[in-house]
Amino acid sequence: MSTIASEKFDHWIRTDFRRLNTTLEDIYFLQDDQAAVAGVGNDLKSELVTEGEAHVEALLAEGDTHQPFETAFNTLGNLGLFMAALRRHELTNPDKERESPFKRCSALCLRIASSLGVAPRFVSPHLSANNYAVNGVQKAFTNLPDETIFHDYNLYSILYFKRAAEALMHIPALGVSASATALMLKEAKYALEQVAYYNKTLFDKLDVARFFYSVRPYFKSHRVGKINYRGANAGDFAGINQIDLLLGLCRGDDLFYGNMLAEKMQYMRPEDQRDVQRTLRIPPLMDGFIEALDSHADTDWFQENCKLFLEVCTAHGRTAAQHQNMLVDKYIKKPAVTMDKQHMKQITASGPPLEELLDMLTHLRDLRIAAPRDDIETAHDQIEKLKTALS
Ligand code: HEM
Repeated sequence: MSTIASEKFDHWIRTDFRRLNTTLEDIYFLQDDQAAVAGVGNDLKSELVTEGEAHVEALLAEGDTHQPFETAFNTLGNLGLFMAALRRHELTNPDKERESPFKRCSALCLRIASSLGVAPRFVSPHLSANNYAVNGVQKAFTNLPDETIFHDYNLYSILYFKRAAEALMHIPALGVSASATALMLKEAKYALEQVAYYNKTLFDKLDVARFFYSVRPYFKSHRVGKINYRGANAGDFAGINQIDLLLGLCRGDDLFYGNMLAEKMQYMRPEDQRDVQRTLRIPPLMDGFIEALDSHADTDWFQENCKLFLEVCTAHGRTAAQHQNMLVDKYIKKPAVTMDKQHMKQITASGPPLEELLDMLTHLRDLRIAAPRDDIETAHDQIEKLKTALS
């Protein structure tokens, strides 16, 4: 049940908003310096601001505070897409301002977001698992085929991560020795193999320059009111963390991982926040197998379930290695080397310098692949111990 103003705004986001962004992207992309955006295409930018702000005014005038969750979440996403586009076109820049110049829009985002318990900006579910298709077309910033490729394959991977998490979540109630645990481990392994397949397809299909110069810039941080909120990334859903935690490759009481989770909470939908909270209260499967090692290593159930458990860990690690060694390397790290130094500062979604971001992602990858590292604690030794118990 949508309001008239929110329906009209949604329609604008799906049509003229996309057209204006696409035209601007085509102008930027033909320049010698493809990252030079400020002051280019000013007429189109004015149109974008005027039309978007008129929708914001209509929403504020309507003042409907009794919308169902999904309607309000959708409107927040649309406002967030609008603000992210303003940031992308350098009509606002958090480093040059102490407050967003788009005050009315900020106020509306803050009101809706506080009522829903999420960050006051678009988050990745708005463009992935909660991106409703109208006549076969989901929302996006532009009509560029590479943006569609990016969203489609992100979404396919996300859906299979969620499926793997759901399968693993059945196991704590069954215990590591149950025969049905083998079924759920097989299910999780299959789902993670699908993630790997879609990650690889994305890697093969997505054009580097188009992604780097015309898609990624919509994922920068921007201010809503006074606070600077990081950009969305495909990871803002609970499933991947549920897998990390349930397997025991990452731990909630690890300072690095705990920090990351705490930061991420408001970028997830409330049900995902609850899923992470629930998972943090469950002992990892790794601990169950380690505990059984001395007394049950030679049983049939241990041999079968532990082997499958290790295969699931490998499959999860493989997706993390792909993310870092293929996707981040090809689409962020390498093109950043050729980028004009003056634009370098803001290429990441979360805002920190690229080196810092890459270190963070490397740390995460190494936890997930249980790498042998002497500077950080990983599950390497526990995995090796379990491997030696298999005949
Ligand atoms: C062209 C493809 C991709 C690129 C270049 C890319 C790049 C990045 C970068 C740079 C970050 C750090 C966030 C930031 O910028 O502040 C990130 C985070 C993340 N991305 Fe991607 N990504 C891609 C595709 C995917 C896909 C398909 C998935 C699968 C769901 C995914 C899952 C994640 C997750 C879960 C995080 C949060 C950190 C973590 O838990 O690992 N990404 N990504």
